[in-house]
Amino acid sequence: MALVFTDPPYDRDNLYLYAEVARFAARVPLPGGSLVVYAPNYAFPSVLELCGAHLRYWWTLALALPGHHALMREYGVRVAWKPLVWFTKSGRLNKQQIFDDVIQGGAKERDAHEWQQQVMTAEQVIENLTAENDLVVDPMSGSATTGIAAKRTRRPLAGDRSQAADRRARPPAAPRAVPDVARGSETMKTVIKVKANRLEAGMSRWSVRS
Ligand SMILES: C[S@@+](CC[C@H](N)C(=O)[O-])C[C@H]1O[C@@H](n2cnc3c(N)ncnc32)[C@H](O)[C@@H]1O
Repeated sequence: MALVFTDPPYDRDNLYLYAEVARFAARVPLPGGSLVVYAPNYAFPSVLELCGAHLRYWWTLALALPGHHALMREYGVRVAWKPLVWFTKSGRLNKQQIFDDVIQGGAKERDAHEWQQQVMTAEQVIENLTAENDLVVDPMSGSATTGIAAKRTRRPLAGDRSQAADRRARPPAAPRAVPDVARGSETMKTVIKVKANRLEAGMSRWSVRS
């Protein structure tokens, strides 16, 4: 496996999924593998802590968001960029593959999924961090944005097929973020313990296709 690229739900109750996906990426016995996760700005420290417990922090890519910027009233901030946080299993092997750490996002795509990300962004991350025929994995694939990008860039993909239906059946709108990090990491650890098996269950549904 070369790259786990995924976009977990951003609400506070689901932040434990960051730890679970990092734990999974750490278990795969291949050197040079990476995990890149979309992260909510409000919970950036939590993402570092949760994933950093299993993998080595490498870098943060900034996804610049064009157009109308969502207002986070609780913080008095308009969100003009989003972190893509990059962790590695044992360091980066191919440091000759040099690229800029700011990615220019395109116009929002929301035709297939409420939380849909852009294929173009996934393509850039995949091309910058992997070589052709390297495996790409997205355990929380939503509308299969990563899968489409993997196909376009000629990388085999492992994804959760049970979510492929998300492309066809748009889920009901839900709040994307509940910005309350003040409760601290002890609560987080308890949540992780209680819910740790859920992602494992989801991952058992994976299939590999090229
Ligand atoms: C933010 S969406 C991903 C959107 C995707 N990047 C796209 O472009 O369409 C998060 C996805 O994680 C899935 N998910 C939520 N909880 C999960 C869990 N416990 N295990 C695996 N997947 C989960 C949801 O079904 C949803 O499809």
